[in-house]
Amino acid sequence: MRVLILNGPNLNLLGTRQPEVYGSTTLSDIEAMCRAHAPNADITFEQSNHEGVMIDTIHSAKATQDGIILNAGAYTHTSVALHDALASVELPCVEVHLSNIHAREAFRHHSYIAPVALGQIAGFGAQSYTLALDALQSHVKATT
Ligand code: DQA
Repeated sequence: MRVLILNGPNLNLLGTRQPEVYGSTTLSDIEAMCRAHAPNADITFEQSNHEGVMIDTIHSAKATQDGIILNAGAYTHTSVALHDALASVELPCVEVHLSNIHAREAFRHHSYIAPVALGQIAGFGAQSYTLALDALQSHVKATT
């Protein structure tokens, strides 16, 4: 399975950013966990603080990936453009969050990603990513 794991704004600061919410694991640690968890997967791991760059990355994935794991950060709650990009490329997508967005502020309860995702995994810290890899791998295996 070829998978793009795409991380949005402020996730480059993991490790030092609000550790009481997001833990002390860095984004590099999460990348290493994903690679160790799915050694047979061909993983492209990206992060951007820019919505347009994320959209370009999703567009490029259409020709090169079997699926997407997306933590869109705060763009989850604001970005119709990311929703449209995912709808356009028609790749299976698993939405992930480190924190349980539904147990936090009301403005985090709505996701523009959820309607165009296979499903959402939220609240398990770094493990949300490995759970997403398992879910995407099962889906891709069942549909190809
Ligand atoms: C997040 C949750 C979002 O609400 C927040 O804006 C983030 C991180 C998470 O992984 O828990 O940047 O996506």
